[in-house]
Amino acid sequence: MRTILAAVMLCVLFTSVVKVQARQSLNLMPLPAKVQMGSGHLVIGPTFSVSIAGQHEARLDRAVEIFLGQLGLQIGMPPIDMQVVDSANATLVIQAAGGTKSVQELGEDESYRLEISNAGARLNAPTTLGVMRGLQTFLQLVQTTSEGFAVPAVAIEDSPRFPSRGLMIDVGRHFIPLDVLKRNLDGMAAVKLNVFHWHLSENQGFRIESKKFPKLQGMGSDGLYYTQDEVRAVIAYARERGIRVVPEFDMPGHTTAWFVGYPELASGPGSYQIERRWGVFDPAMDPTREETYKFLDAFISEMAGLFPDQSFHIGGDEVNGKEWDANPKIQAFMHAQGMKGNNDLQAYFNQRVQKIVSKHGKTMLGWDEILRPDLPKTIVIQSWRGPDSLAQAAKQGYRGLLSSGYYVDLMWSAERHYATEPLSGAAASLTPEEQKRILGGEACMWGEYVSPENIDSRIWPRTAAIAERLWSPQDVRDVNSMYQRLALVSTWLDGLGLTHNSSYAPMLRRIAGKDDIAALKVLADVVEPVKDYTREETAPSPATSESPLNRVVDAVRPESSTARKFADAVNELVAGHAKPGSESRVKDLLNRWRDNQVELQPQVEKSLLLKEVAPLSQNLSALGAAGLAALDYLDRGEPAPAAWVTAQLALVEQAKKPQAQMLIMVAPSVEKLIRASAGQASAGPAAPSSSPENRSTLMGQRGGPWNLRKLIFRR
Ligand code: ACM
Repeated sequence: MRTILAAVMLCVLFTSVVKVQARQSLNLMPLPAKVQMGSGHLVIGPTFSVSIAGQHEARLDRAVEIFLGQLGLQIGMPPIDMQVVDSANATLVIQAAGGTKSVQELGEDESYRLEISNAGARLNAPTTLGVMRGLQTFLQLVQTTSEGFAVPAVAIEDSPRFPSRGLMIDVGRHFIPLDVLKRNLDGMAAVKLNVFHWHLSENQGFRIESKKFPKLQGMGSDGLYYTQDEVRAVIAYARERGIRVVPEFDMPGHTTAWFVGYPELASGPGSYQIERRWGVFDPAMDPTREETYKFLDAFISEMAGLFPDQSFHIGGDEVNGKEWDANPKIQAFMHAQGMKGNNDLQAYFNQRVQKIVSKHGKTMLGWDEILRPDLPKTIVIQSWRGPDSLAQAAKQGYRGLLSSGYYVDLMWSAERHYATEPLSGAAASLTPEEQKRILGGEACMWGEYVSPENIDSRIWPRTAAIAERLWSPQDVRDVNSMYQRLALVSTWLDGLGLTHNSSYAPMLRRIAGKDDIAALKVLADVVEPVKDYTREETAPSPATSESPLNRVVDAVRPESSTARKFADAVNELVAGHAKPGSESRVKDLLNRWRDNQVELQPQVEKSLLLKEVAPLSQNLSALGAAGLAALDYLDRGEPAPAAWVTAQLALVEQAKKPQAQMLIMVAPSVEKLIRASAGQASAGPAAPSSSPENRSTLMGQRGGPWNLRKLIFRR
């Protein structure tokens, strides 16, 4: 009996391993729920045609039109040559059993089934949304083969794990133009994200036209705002791609820009100017005046009419309460109402605003500070200060979204975001019913250090890894597979017009003031911006919204793939199982880093923007030399002398320190080589540079990044 059981277990295990491997062999991100590989492939050429069987809504026709446009770009053919035909013999036959809601809803069916053989392809879905998701899968499957462009024969059955998968973009701190938003919506659609959370107002800017209160944008935006027509255009563009648009108007804090035109809303005496600094500030709405709610009723009514989505985000984060403490009338109100502190006053405000939001037919969404049992269970909590509030909310009957762990402005590795699981920690022990209240999550792109030029590189490709976490089954978590596919999806996103890669060289050229950036690139390829909220702490003078974002730190990538691959090769080397060619690649890189200083130094002297990287360049050169010497000892099988090791480790410590708000990401790997050359035990295989442990060491973090004090200090 036991043998049979063991055989069955082995079979189950083997089948699931095979399933995972079949999925991973496809260049897809996010990976689908179920994949069965076929044999052969379907060639995509000039005779490619599509037919739409089944229901026909305008949104479906448009989805197919967009698909043909993207396929045309991908294979270098005008879409006009690829036909939508009325034939069961079309190359791709699409059949949607039903249409979609006039306003996209949370939880609408996004499942699809895609079958591809060498004779043709069929895409079946219950709704147009499922067709949209399946078409994106089809596009990602297109490969270059010896017979031309082709998709592999495969049967895919797919549906998302979580119904809400978002990207938030903060356009308050830095205005982000419409075309940039649109290309990011294309990126979202490509990785099956379905919510664009538009953070529209901040201390530093009120970014949307109000016709009822024109001084909001008139005095609070420096002229940088979206007209209502532009907003409608973004909503329509998103809808064509299966994406909901959820607006956020952060209140009662983060509201300085509102008060420039309407100081009567504030709790302080004023006057108010648009805030230029970064941080948490005192201005907050006055929750004790009826006029505040009258204003908000009229404003929310206007915005609820403009944004069709069911959800309406009221922010609610980071109210420091200082204006409330300093206002005798507010203190008297709190006393009369028996309120014990500012939390009670904010809860009162939230209750009043919730009633207004609900009166205008919307569901209120807010950051986790709004979680209090006195709000109705219809509201949704967005957890940002840590994952626990998500589990707490779900236990209390509230629905929630996870953003803690998905802040892409913190410059974490894709691996670290990928490891953030909405149903882990306290959420893992929730009942199935409670777990269902966890609707998904959202990547957050806060805007202190982003411009139209570099925002894509802060969002992509790492957000694709978050998208996979939220779409794919929980057992999809192989980091090597993720990185392999992330590189491919990154190239695919390039083709869609995202500028995360294409902006890099032009930024470096401008900084260097010359076309030849080879030496600068050697350095830039192995550094990353400092992590978490250390950019302020390590800045020589505080940055503001007026500081140019034209420094090397603004151009370099949040995650260095050179450093990650170097770390992997070093780990293999020191563990004694280096792949063929690994050691010579490591040596080549170390040589290049050692010698780069000679090339870069004369350029550094000629460019003001380059001056600050001189110490980084020197440190990289020293790391290169130290790594080569360590390899030499290892090759000779001769332990490195203790005094040499001590001196080199001191040099590594120096090189690990932030310079010009950047970190040299290869320093920990060079340290491993040095330790290995001395036969030190700690030199054993360790995490690659992108892993949380390694980065924690590099950053000198203690107790995890979710240090609330820092967060509060920061934003
Ligand atoms: C936040 O990051 N203050 C929601």
